[in-house]
Amino acid sequence: MSTITAPTDFTRLPDLPADVFTAPLRRPTHLGEDWVEPSQADYGAQDHATWDRLFARQMEVLPGRAASAFMAGLERLDLGRGGVPELARLSRELTALTGWSVVPVPMLIPDHVFFWHLANRRFPAGNFIRSPDRFDYIEEPDVFHDVFGHVPLLADPVYADYMQEYGRAGWKAMRYNRLKALGALYWYTVEFGLVQEADGLRAYGAGILSGPAEAVFALEARSPNRIMLNVDRAMRTDYVISDLQPTYFVIESFAQLYHQTVERDFDRLYRGLGAGFTYANTAVIDVDDVIHKGTLEYHLRGGRGSGAEPV
Ligand SMILES: [Fe+2]
Repeated sequence: MSTITAPTDFTRLPDLPADVFTAPLRRPTHLGEDWVEPSQADYGAQDHATWDRLFARQMEVLPGRAASAFMAGLERLDLGRGGVPELARLSRELTALTGWSVVPVPMLIPDHVFFWHLANRRFPAGNFIRSPDRFDYIEEPDVFHDVFGHVPLLADPVYADYMQEYGRAGWKAMRYNRLKALGALYWYTVEFGLVQEADGLRAYGAGILSGPAEAVFALEARSPNRIMLNVDRAMRTDYVISDLQPTYFVIESFAQLYHQTVERDFDRLYRGLGAGFTYANTAVIDVDDVIHKGTLEYHLRGGRGSGAEPV
């Protein structure tokens, strides 16, 4: 069976094969093919106050729950210095640490452009912040989710390498039409991952760390499953985007995550995957290395829509 080749040169945006489906997002006319805004949004006093309130709220929850590398990154990059961070300055500091930078984009951008930025160690961040009446819930990732949630770990050299490899893997997944599976891996690691540290479980996923309720639920509630990450397994698992997760996957370390992902034979994996997901997001299967088998009671009671307690 022939091996599908993925691009290796990411200095320019690689050509997308005609048969690859991409979401029909309309690029604003003032942007180039990289979708990067010419400058960061001009945030007003209310916007800076929103950042500060969100930051303060998270800091009441995260010490002792966020991965130590995340807390170290927050501090090194001084993301609590007040107001929405200036991306040019943040990028200078981050580049000095790991070669990454942060670029403003108007909204969710097409997958292939997102992957291309990651492959070049650029993290695209939403160029807006939620309005005060949307304090707890946002449909699209804003600068708080993207910068507070994702950027601190980019100061960690191993995690920084993982994110770049993920971007490269994206181009391969597109060639195999397996973006859904790769999306599940992103979901269960970058957005909602847990890591086993010496003092116990910690959260490193940006979706957990940038929101008010999920850190406690992910780490302490009896409802969700907590299962050691197996990349093949996670890529076959469905996920929910509008509620707390019924299952979290746990890594031993970022080095383990990196090796488990990079050393995987993705060609073989993608050929073996079906078009849909194999496992429900509540499933515990025979091969799982289970840390905690959840009661799933929160989700069985109907989850967010029903007003169930996140226990
Ligand atoms: Fe995110």
